[in-house]
Amino acid sequence: MTLIALSSGKSFPISAGTTILDAAAQAKVLLPYSCKTGRCSTCKCKVLSGTTQALHPETGLSDVEKVDGWILSCVRTAETDILLEVDDLDGLVLPTAKTWPCRISEIKQLAPDVMQVFLRLPPSADFDFIPGQYIDIIGPGGIRRSYSLANAASESKLLELNIRSVNGGAMSDYWFNQAKQNDLLRLNGPLGTFLLRDVAGIDLIFLATGTGIAPVKAMLESLAHYPPDKQPKSATVLWGARYPSDFYLALSEMAADFSYIPVLSRPDDEWSGEMGYVQDVLLKNVPNLLNAAVYACGSDAMIHSAQKSLLAAGLPANRFYSDAFVCSGSN
Ligand SMILES: Cc1cc2nc3c(=O)[nH]c(=O)nc-3n(C[C@H](O)[C@H](O)[C@H](O)COP(=O)(O)OP(=O)(O)OC[C@H]3O[C@@H](n4cnc5c(N)ncnc54)[C@H](O)[C@@H]3O)c2cc1C
Ligand code: FES
Repeated sequence: MTLIALSSGKSFPISAGTTILDAAAQAKVLLPYSCKTGRCSTCKCKVLSGTTQALHPETGLSDVEKVDGWILSCVRTAETDILLEVDDLDGLVLPTAKTWPCRISEIKQLAPDVMQVFLRLPPSADFDFIPGQYIDIIGPGGIRRSYSLANAASESKLLELNIRSVNGGAMSDYWFNQAKQNDLLRLNGPLGTFLLRDVAGIDLIFLATGTGIAPVKAMLESLAHYPPDKQPKSATVLWGARYPSDFYLALSEMAADFSYIPVLSRPDDEWSGEMGYVQDVLLKNVPNLLNAAVYACGSDAMIHSAQKSLLAAGLPANRFYSDAFVCSGSN
């Protein structure tokens, strides 16, 4: 039997053709993941000994990372016993992912290219999730796409999605041209490990681009209910967009206590706020990152660039968490 050992001391068996991530899940060991298709690099880990084999292309890794022994556990299997350097999410138990029917309760355009959708589950559904997680929507013709949940669990049990239109996108066409109240869809979830770790006493920083603000909003809603001794020392949200109309949420009206910095990436005559990349604006406003934890969500480019520059500026390597909105289709 082939064995995977982790730097934490845990180990679990793996059978031929199974990904390391799936083998871990079968052994109830929770490893970080998001897209599960080798694109987002959330599941990146380092092979310290043994040999592995890629089952699908590892698009989320650079050539240098591959040479340095990094792999993506969601698309790799083991050929021999291996030792992996990876932080398992020890002690965390995620709600089980299931498939549910759901209906569109409300659909509303919030910005030229953003739709807000509320989904209603059957009254008997015991759907539970942790703010920051996402679901897969299975739409017309079986198209399956991932969307972050934009609200923390609510009395109404409605699930909020914030959906950006992607040019020529199959599911975008559905949301922006066909979807209507009461449409029947299916969802699978909750999924992913983008969730707040212990934030007590930490300088908590959120970086978001576009609809990457969706899981951040859910996390902020949940933070408002944390007891005083579990609260972060400070919380700051930097939200990046191209046009002022892209800031489709009134974040400053939320109940949680945080500083909000909207950041525009393009010059605009009317704009007197911050401009540039969210990570650069963060470094300008919060130069000392030693006590910080950063949660970044949105474009792949922002996440990779932010991780590089923030770690170089002193952010502890194990305090950068991300969820990249990579293409979730099968192409
Ligand atoms: C974990 C996760 C969570 C996500 N959460 C959200 C969310 O909350 N809100 C949201 O708006 N989106 C989110 N996405 C992205 C979403 O799942 C879809 O990929 C996206 O909406 C495009 O789907 P589509 O069917 O319209 O386009 P497709 O038919 O899949 O693609 C059309 C074309 O656009 C390209 N493309 C697809 N997706 C992207 C992208 N993200 N960036 C650039 N090019 C792309 C494709 O390569 C293709 O050429 C998330 C993705 C992941 C992996
Ligand atoms: S690359 Fe493995 S979970 Fe995204």
